[in-house]
Amino acid sequence: MIELQNVTYRYEDGASPALEDVALSIERGEFLAVVGHNGSGKSTLAKHLNALLLPSGGKVLVDGMDTADPKLTLAIRQKVGMVFQNPDNQLVTTVVEEDVAFGPENLGVPPQEIRQRVDAALASVGMTKYATGAPHMLSGGQKQRIAIAGMLAMEPEVLVLDEATAMLDPRGRREIIETVSRLHREKGITVVMITQYMEEALAASRIAVMSEGKLLMAGPPQKDELRRHRLDVPAMKELADALRENGVDLGEDILTVEDMAQAVCRSLSKS
Ligand SMILES: Nc1ncnc2c1ncn2[C@@H]1O[C@H](COP(=O)(O)OP(=O)(O)OP(=O)(O)O)[C@@H](O)[C@H]1O
Ligand SMILES: [Mg+2]
Repeated sequence: MIELQNVTYRYEDGASPALEDVALSIERGEFLAVVGHNGSGKSTLAKHLNALLLPSGGKVLVDGMDTADPKLTLAIRQKVGMVFQNPDNQLVTTVVEEDVAFGPENLGVPPQEIRQRVDAALASVGMTKYATGAPHMLSGGQKQRIAIAGMLAMEPEVLVLDEATAMLDPRGRREIIETVSRLHREKGITVVMITQYMEEALAASRIAVMSEGKLLMAGPPQKDELRRHRLDVPAMKELADALRENGVDLGEDILTVEDMAQAVCRSLSKS
């Protein structure tokens, strides 16, 4: 779906490159997480995926289209939707459904089809009942779901989330991860999720690790490998794994203290 061929990027005033010789193929329908410390180049990488930035060296192909070709920019942006960190910067109107319609309107989609797309997009993120409400009345997690709906209404094939949960409380984070996981599972949307939270990265089928502008590794979520890069799996997942190895299986998807508490309560009430 997206191919980065030895991509190097230098900001004008940057001493060392923000991206250095990054080679990465993102498969159609894949759920890729990108992790790495502050300043490692994650956002710079994300902005290359829909031609917000163009490589200083190397090439980015989106569904075969070279992002450096200005004639293809619009087609590329339609294929790759981006959701950023701050929900308040992404909502532009005073009515939820108008906000979701904003993207397809700019694409020149006919009004009747816009209606259908807006309804479908709001349903996909579980926000139908807020359609005629005001965005500023929503929680951070709900606002991000509206931002995602706005992207979906443009019918992208790839959704890139650049720390889209960073400003949310745990509940908002969970809402977004669940929404994105479901869109990936049910609609086959390709997801690239940049995150600082290891427990979120574990929702992905592959994790790319960035460090100082370089891609250190890209592979299935593996504890040892991640730990080597000091990107540890959450303590509660390790505890659950250790318990399972010792004959106490509390289930597979324990990542947070809350998950663990619930699993322990469930297990106790069973026995
Ligand atoms: N607009 C800019 N101009 C100059 N240098 C920049 C600019 N944006 C980022 N950089 C530099 O490029 C490098 C990579 O930054 P980038 O924002 O891609 O990292 P990141 O992994 O997204 O970090 P964070 O976790 O803080 O979001 C850093 O050294 C940063 O200081
Ligand atoms: Mg960033």
